[in-house]
Amino acid sequence: MNTVLQNIKNRRSIRKYKEIQVEQEKIESIIEAGLFAPSGHNAQPWHFTVLQDKKIIDKISLETKESLKDSETPIFKRMARNEKFHMLYNAPTVIVISGKKEKAYSMEADLGAATQNMLLASESLGVSTCWIGLIVEYFKGENKENKYKELEIPKGYEVQYAVTLGYSSLEGNPKPHQRKENTVNYIR
Ligand SMILES: Cc1cc2nc3c(=O)[nH]c(=O)nc-3n(C[C@H](O)[C@H](O)[C@H](O)COP(=O)(O)O)c2cc1C
Repeated sequence: MNTVLQNIKNRRSIRKYKEIQVEQEKIESIIEAGLFAPSGHNAQPWHFTVLQDKKIIDKISLETKESLKDSETPIFKRMARNEKFHMLYNAPTVIVISGKKEKAYSMEADLGAATQNMLLASESLGVSTCWIGLIVEYFKGENKENKYKELEIPKGYEVQYAVTLGYSSLEGNPKPHQRKENTVNYIR
């Protein structure tokens, strides 16, 4: 099988990492893959923030959990009340993906394409990842402006996703989930 297809099929969300940092060269290649994603009207409406300060990474997890302790969404509430749960899985590197909303295109789709490019590039380099949608919860609430300032996210950009990066402490990738059936038809 060609390597692109192999990486697509092997990639899994990994939530347990070794305490080893990912090499700078690999991080740069992963971000470059994000930068080369397609975007509506070639808007390239993204901004990437690379976090490697454990204190900040832990703070994001702790404060998000605190804010979700009384969430009306049962799964959020369960995660927030689980002492062992770390929203960013103690990853040594986290890339926060922000986007600029403008009129005629879908910023979320563009950021999704960039994010998936980064997951696949990581897989090809032996780096494990997990896409973190929950990151948006950290950037809600009263203190929102300070949080954007602390991470130096440019004005007009909104955080949409994050990706954790690290070396997996599992033995190999888990098997893929069963794919849903009857999701394709041909009209000929
Ligand atoms: C938009 C989006 C948001 C996600 N948010 C989270 C998240 O906040 N935390 C998490 O652990 N996994 C998150 N995931 C990962 C999914 O849970 C995972 O992709 C799914 O269970 C399929 O498993 P796989 O990635 O191993 O194939 C997210 C995935 C996507 C596409």
